[in-house]
Amino acid sequence: KILIVDFGSQVTQLIARRVREEGVYCEIVPFQAAEAAFAAMRPIGVILSGGPASVTEMASPRAPQAIFDAGVPVLGICYGEQTMVAQLGGTVEGGHHREFGRAEVEVTAESALFDGVWRMGEKYPVWMSHGDRVTALPEGFSVIGVSPNAPFAAIADEKRRFFGVQFHPEVVHTPHGGALLRNFVRKIAGAKGDWTMRAFKDEAIARIRAQVGKERVICGLSGGVDSAVAAVLLHEAIGDQLTCVFVDHGLLRAGEAKKVVALFRHAYNIPLVLVEAEALFLKELAGVTDPEVKRKTIGKLFIDVFEAEAKKVGGASFLAQGTLYPDVIESVSFTGGPSVTIKSHHNVGGLPERMNMKLVEPLRELFKDEVRALGRELGLPEVFVGRHPFPGPGLAIRCPGEITKDKLDILRLADEIFIEEIRRAGLYDEIWQAFAVLLPVRTVGVMGDGRTYDNVVALRAVTSVDGMTADFYAFDMKFLAHAATRIINEVKGVNRVVYDVTSKPPGTIEWE
Ligand code: XMP
Repeated sequence: KILIVDFGSQVTQLIARRVREEGVYCEIVPFQAAEAAFAAMRPIGVILSGGPASVTEMASPRAPQAIFDAGVPVLGICYGEQTMVAQLGGTVEGGHHREFGRAEVEVTAESALFDGVWRMGEKYPVWMSHGDRVTALPEGFSVIGVSPNAPFAAIADEKRRFFGVQFHPEVVHTPHGGALLRNFVRKIAGAKGDWTMRAFKDEAIARIRAQVGKERVICGLSGGVDSAVAAVLLHEAIGDQLTCVFVDHGLLRAGEAKKVVALFRHAYNIPLVLVEAEALFLKELAGVTDPEVKRKTIGKLFIDVFEAEAKKVGGASFLAQGTLYPDVIESVSFTGGPSVTIKSHHNVGGLPERMNMKLVEPLRELFKDEVRALGRELGLPEVFVGRHPFPGPGLAIRCPGEITKDKLDILRLADEIFIEEIRRAGLYDEIWQAFAVLLPVRTVGVMGDGRTYDNVVALRAVTSVDGMTADFYAFDMKFLAHAATRIINEVKGVNRVVYDVTSKPPGTIEWE
């Protein structure tokens, strides 16, 4: 195992990704918890991440001294390099504003870190983080790479196996970065590289059993991939100590509730409570037009309904959630930061305290694509595992303005046709998310000999890596024309279809 100590960089999770891509298991812990984690985990190597602080400030974070005393190899990246230098007796000077940028590193010495990847005397592109600078090295260290702005761009104490880089090997803008990390974890730290999803599954099952014991667990299903994978994994671990609850709030896609019931009750034999709450949700949402009020209303109702059902099931002391690694990271790095809430993304936060339950989050260390791989390992069908993300508030935020059952039915049908056409054209997996939006405007049309005055449907499809930024998908016009014709012909109440060509930013993926 490799331990990654997080000093708060925006890209720490990418270090974990790169390491795991090499078949090496690793865990990220915040620097405050690093001492205990290091002792408990006994890793074969440690990576110190970058971070926004400056080591020249009195109260800036430090790596536990034990890490340097244990004889394990250490790689410091950016802030991690600087704190290593400062802690081992070198000097770092501040005063520069930290920013990312492209740069070139020239290799000035042979090093185990560069072995087979970077050659002596050559220059290589990297993504540099400029900020504080190392100005004197601790004893035992020497420079192995320089760049115009960073005379200590890469440093090493080959004997103690301590390495430091001022650039970010984990980002794609450093083309050989993955190979350098591989050198560190495989050749220097000696990891075998045999970690797989199967191994993760077995470990996760053992951990769940140890955490839960003989107690009962309740798990909310959303129809999405994450909660489904969490539920199936839990079921493998603890069998019928698990009960799943699926709330049909009437804002789901066509056939969704049936699909979930079929998969869980019938294919997996997992105890599942289906709560039909459409009437309740639509009643509470009547007259609500503001997107954030919609989200809050749905979030609160969801918690009420879920709580009532959980009480009926009785005696559960654990609540399972399909929280993913990026959720965990976002909630850490944004606390106290000057970030604004663009949309309050609804989850079941708040539930555990209210219900006095402990949390089980077996996917906390995984990224979305890893969750999909785990889903496959657990035998979840491909059509389910590869699904596009779907927001918690569902179709409510794809129906700008007031929500009514009639509008939702129109939207559901249009959406179903659009997705069906995308699948038929073989484009589903290329697209990150696709859906229809029912606009609160009516426009004039002509059908047969008559005038129509009906609704407009907007189609949206985007490519994205993580949902944070996105590009609109450039469909072939023939495809769009065909999908539009089908929607207008088959969905009563729609006489016009438009396609959204806004990227994010400046747009967001959803319309509300
Ligand atoms: P935006 O619209 O913010 O969406 O660009 C980014 C991703 O988040 C999803 N999304 C939500 N998911 N509750 C959720 O669970 C929400 O309130 C919510 N709003 C947006 C959206 O579908 C996209 O995948």
